[in-house]
Amino acid sequence: MYDFVFSQLFLPRIKLGIEKIGIKKGDRIIEIGIGTGISLSLYPDFCNVVGIDITRKMLSKAKAKKEKLKLGKVHLFEMDAENLTFNDNSFDHALMPFVISVVPNLEKVMSEVKRVTKNNGKIVIINHLCSQNPLLSRFEKFITPLSMRLGWRSDISLNVLSNHCKIHIKEVTKKTPFDPWYIINAVNIKE
Ligand SMILES: C[S@@+](CC[C@H](N)C(=O)[O-])C[C@H]1O[C@@H](n2cnc3c(N)ncnc32)[C@H](O)[C@@H]1O
Repeated sequence: MYDFVFSQLFLPRIKLGIEKIGIKKGDRIIEIGIGTGISLSLYPDFCNVVGIDITRKMLSKAKAKKEKLKLGKVHLFEMDAENLTFNDNSFDHALMPFVISVVPNLEKVMSEVKRVTKNNGKIVIINHLCSQNPLLSRFEKFITPLSMRLGWRSDISLNVLSNHCKIHIKEVTKKTPFDPWYIINAVNIKE
């Protein structure tokens, strides 16, 4: 059901996000919150992909896809993005599709993603962001306590990503001008 509904919506945006990374032969990519693995068919076969997700049932679907598509260079782990069990600088780049709104502690997740990604690696985030319209933005902030109870944050803005999470945003694009989801292309600059 998840794949049926969300593949249509998410896949074209994830494809654009992967293109933004500019993956080179032999690169190691970490995907945070890989879910049922709808992205798996989109990665070039010359890179290594590590996907993590905290939800076992979602991950089991991703594992089935990996087997079906015979993706030998994909490795999947049940893991909390707030506590990644990888060494520093384990990955060339990171992809975070549709996950930043559903983690309880975004700052901690971003700090972990920055830690495991190499200096100058890309961190590409695909997500809805809080509106830049002051009225809508106030409304989204207002409903945040309710949306948090339902499991997602509606108050994430570029300001939150730049200033609270300290990521260096290079480019922000959308699939179409009225698309609700942004593709945020950031570079991991280790200070
Ligand atoms: C909206 S789904 C998106 C899944 C996938 N990226 C996609 O595009 O279909 C969000 C995913 O984030 C995962 N997730 C939520 N909190 C997480 C955490 N702390 N660590 C790892 N994964 C998490 C959920 O289990 C879920 O699979």
